[in-house]
Amino acid sequence: MSREYDLKVDPATLAGGASGSSSTSINRRQFLKYGFNTATGVLAASLGVLGFSAILLPPGGGVSGDLGVVFWAKGREDEAWYGAKHEQPMTRTDFVNEAAKSSTGTSGAAGIWNGVPVVVTYVDHAKNKDTPVFNGKARFQFMEGYDETGKRIGHFEDLSDVDPRIFPSDNLVMIFGRCTHLCCIPGWQLVSNSYTDDSWTPGGGDGGGTKLFCICHSSRFDPTALEMNSNRNRSSGATFSYAGIRRAGGPAPVGLPLIPIQLNGDVIEGITDYIDWYTYCD
Ligand code: FES
Repeated sequence: MSREYDLKVDPATLAGGASGSSSTSINRRQFLKYGFNTATGVLAASLGVLGFSAILLPPGGGVSGDLGVVFWAKGREDEAWYGAKHEQPMTRTDFVNEAAKSSTGTSGAAGIWNGVPVVVTYVDHAKNKDTPVFNGKARFQFMEGYDETGKRIGHFEDLSDVDPRIFPSDNLVMIFGRCTHLCCIPGWQLVSNSYTDDSWTPGGGDGGGTKLFCICHSSRFDPTALEMNSNRNRSSGATFSYAGIRRAGGPAPVGLPLIPIQLNGDVIEGITDYIDWYTYCD
């Protein structure tokens, strides 16, 4: 029997009088169809028959002139908190307002940037960073990173010292949304389980919630645990180090890369300087 997952429903929808179950079940096959429809739909619309690596070209490379990130809630317009904002520009205010409803001061959403799937996460770091570290007070953690063999490869700040734009911007991080296991698309609280609960535990381990969860084979990633990591291009075998978020558990070998961001007014934009970091699914 296929495994069932409980999709979360926007609390505002429930408060508005929606009836029935507080969740919607899909199985893994349905999710894969949804997930890959999301990616391949964007690819097809953007580039026709060109390969995945082509969409990693920066806007100046001819794909798009727009650095902005848009919400992506296709098929979940009535469920995700950002469903009504599908295909609209992401703003920092959207995340701040949603995080205010969270006991951990966090919020996240799926999006599309430059033709690739992303997850943007807001953490109330500025408020919590100087308070004692204990469960529930989410903040960014800057940590040592390891490769898939467990060998230490460096600290997040080894990279951020060279380019401070890699640090979270205005309490926000953007993460490339292709799993390092088999390239499915992890989500933010897309499903209901202990990994996606509105809870937080320090240390970048597998305890606590507020993880990015990959429904394909249950890999978990902690968007608050920022580290140096390494991966390789599947086609060429070329290896590279990158700033990313920590793999907390599951079959994924390493963490997911960050995409540095900047604010244009209130609108979240991605910076295209680190496209090599996103080539492991090529
Ligand atoms: S593709 Fe993400 S856990 Fe397998």
